[in-house]
Amino acid sequence: MMKPLSLDRRIQSLFPIALASLLIIGTARLVLDNLQSNDSRVFRLYGWPRGEKHRLPIVISPKDRIDEGCNVFEGKWVWDNVSYPHYTEESCPFLVKQVTCQRNGRPDSFYKNWRWQPNECNLPRFDPLKLLQILRGKRLMFVGDSVQRAQFESMVCLVQSVIPKGKKSLRRVPPRKIFTIEEYDASIEYYWAPFIVESNSDHATNHTVKKRSVKLDSIAKHGKEWEGVDVLVFESYVWWMYKPLINATYGSPFDVKEYNVTTAYRLALETWANWIDTKINPHTQKVFFMSLSPTHLWNWEWKPGTGSDGNCFNESYPIQGPYWGTGCSHINLWGTQGQALDKGTEI
Ligand SMILES: *[C@@H]1O[C@H](CO)[C@@H](O)[C@H](O)[C@H]1NC(C)=O
Ligand SMILES: *[C@@H]1O[C@H](CO)[C@@H](O)[C@H](O)[C@H]1NC(C)=O
Ligand SMILES: *[C@@H]1O[C@H](CO)[C@@H](O)[C@H](O)[C@H]1NC(C)=O
Ligand SMILES: *[C@@H]1O[C@H](CO)[C@@H](O)[C@H](O)[C@H]1NC(C)=O
Ligand SMILES: *[C@@H]1O[C@H](CO)[C@@H](O)[C@H](O)[C@H]1NC(C)=O
Ligand SMILES: *[C@@H]1O[C@H](CO)[C@@H](O)[C@H](O)[C@H]1NC(C)=O
Repeated sequence: MMKPLSLDRRIQSLFPIALASLLIIGTARLVLDNLQSNDSRVFRLYGWPRGEKHRLPIVISPKDRIDEGCNVFEGKWVWDNVSYPHYTEESCPFLVKQVTCQRNGRPDSFYKNWRWQPNECNLPRFDPLKLLQILRGKRLMFVGDSVQRAQFESMVCLVQSVIPKGKKSLRRVPPRKIFTIEEYDASIEYYWAPFIVESNSDHATNHTVKKRSVKLDSIAKHGKEWEGVDVLVFESYVWWMYKPLINATYGSPFDVKEYNVTTAYRLALETWANWIDTKINPHTQKVFFMSLSPTHLWNWEWKPGTGSDGNCFNESYPIQGPYWGTGCSHINLWGTQGQALDKGTEI
């Protein structure tokens, strides 16, 4: 994230926090850790732009901390019906219809109780009040595709129960969604940008899925909406991997060419990294990056050869061990430094 770093280094320095945002609790936890300037258990936040009166100490108790050196990316999903779920569909009024499985008729509920268990340590239980304290006077924004929208909705559901009625609201301002927490002068937001850079799929609801065309060197239009946001969480991957090639422009906006998706993804991330370098103040803003969600684009991946191809009906148990989905490229995008990316395959 610092100026002199090459893209390799920047990606790598962002990586440790990247995959954790796959875990709902991980996101919150790491935001928490990264806003913390010192190891002391009681600390003050200095230098945040808004709200002199809001500079209250935030208490981080020992049980909130993850052991230094614990690799939170290595672990497994365990079924836990004592501490999970954190929220239910009924308790959270802010979910879109697409993700309300129970209301849509899903009969089982086993899937609600999976908890990520790192091999070497325990994650503290998510504490909505602590997150709100940290978000006081700030904006947290998730940028990306529907994977990221799910992260946004989860985050809203995780915190909304502790906010009284009338003190919270969700507004749609396409391509943004803004959840406002009045008493904390804080917001949790979502910004639809499935390629991070500009594309012909940027309309929040009416976007082309099949005829994708990406502007690999254009980010200014989106970037304007991200400027000054205190915590930014970016994600993009699966939209690139639809086919081995993708139509894109680089340089002339009229010269549409087919690019290898790997090349295109790298060029787009370079555009993004340059934006970060010029627009982000590392002292007052935090940036997270998540990539490489397993692909899930083809129905024939389900139970191939069993006669029920093309149907995920009755799939209700997590796939154990590494899984990437067809066509998912976890090759070394960033040279030797990119090894860290391959580590992600363990999740
Ligand atoms: C943490 O704060 C203490 C006391 O203010 C200071 O002595 C120490 O250098 C700080 N540590 C870091 C890593 O900033
Ligand atoms: C958790 O699941 C077990 C086994 O299905 C069941 O016996 C127990 O009552 C459940 N506990 C809660 C709190 O739902
Ligand atoms: C959706 O977008 C397409 C292409 O830009 C346009 O032709 C169509 O009218 C739009 N539909 C709606 C409902 O806005
Ligand atoms: C795209 O580039 C990668 C890495 O250079 C290469 O492995 C892959 O075969 C290329 N794919 C196509 C369709 O050219
Ligand atoms: C790129 O666009 C052309 C013209 O619309 C189309 O024929 C081609 O299939 C597209 N390529 C990809 C990879 O989508
Ligand atoms: C779905 O799973 C249940 C429980 O394992 C089984 O009894 C049922 O036959 C399955 N249905 C289909 C259509 O595979």
